[in-house]
Amino acid sequence: MNIEQVSKSGIPRHVAVIMDGNGRWAQKHGSERILGHRQGVNSVRSIVEGAGELGIEYLTLYAFSTENWDRPKEEVSALMVLLIDAIVQEIDNLNEKNVRMLVIGDLCCFPKEVENKLREAIQTTSKNTGLNLILGLSYSGRWDILEAVRKISLEVKSGQIEVSDVNEQFFVDHLSTSGIPDPELLIRTSGEFRISNFLLWQIAYSEFYFSNILWPDFRKENLFEAIVDFQNRERRFGKTSEQIRN
Ligand code: FPP
Repeated sequence: MNIEQVSKSGIPRHVAVIMDGNGRWAQKHGSERILGHRQGVNSVRSIVEGAGELGIEYLTLYAFSTENWDRPKEEVSALMVLLIDAIVQEIDNLNEKNVRMLVIGDLCCFPKEVENKLREAIQTTSKNTGLNLILGLSYSGRWDILEAVRKISLEVKSGQIEVSDVNEQFFVDHLSTSGIPDPELLIRTSGEFRISNFLLWQIAYSEFYFSNILWPDFRKENLFEAIVDFQNRERRFGKTSEQIRN
């Protein structure tokens, strides 16, 4: 599908993606799993480009979950190297495309070198005003919610706020995605139908789109397809169809 087939009205502000299938792609091609991850970086480049062309404001990619730390040591180390290489390689391209990079997740768990590179990339792109590219790194939805609970508990304990101050907006303001609108669309590739501890709070009203394509084969044309599918849905937010149409 090409970009002309996507309606200019009804572009979601925020799209989140669970990039899945790198391992199976590698297996299919008779190579090591890391080659699948490496190919996956080409998909990231294409999707970032496509999101920018569409005028999507926020693109969140689940790049490394809290649970991914439990993968074989060699795969985790290879992924760390890949992350650094990708950031170093892509940073000029991101700046050129006016992309601002952000990270959600527990950066402290990363090797110092990775953490420093990430912080550098966040800093270098911080003034850009185009697409916000949010990387979920050492991220999980439960971690995010627990962190918010911990921060709020401390504020209550110190007397800064009352328990009655904790309403929905207050809670949202303490999540790692504070200031970022909830994703209207969540895409998962590779034919798996799970959320895998991604943005649990934030996807309360997201539309889900599942693609059979393995992440290393996913390109911006596939993103356009997902957006067109999204544009043909009726989002009711608990209301009736009649209420929405009126
Ligand atoms: C899931 O596939 C993918 C990952 C755990 C890693 C994703 C990382 C990248 C695409 C590269 C780096 C990203 C950026 C943002 C530079 P899987 O390994 O679970 O695949 P499988 O289910 O087929 O085994």
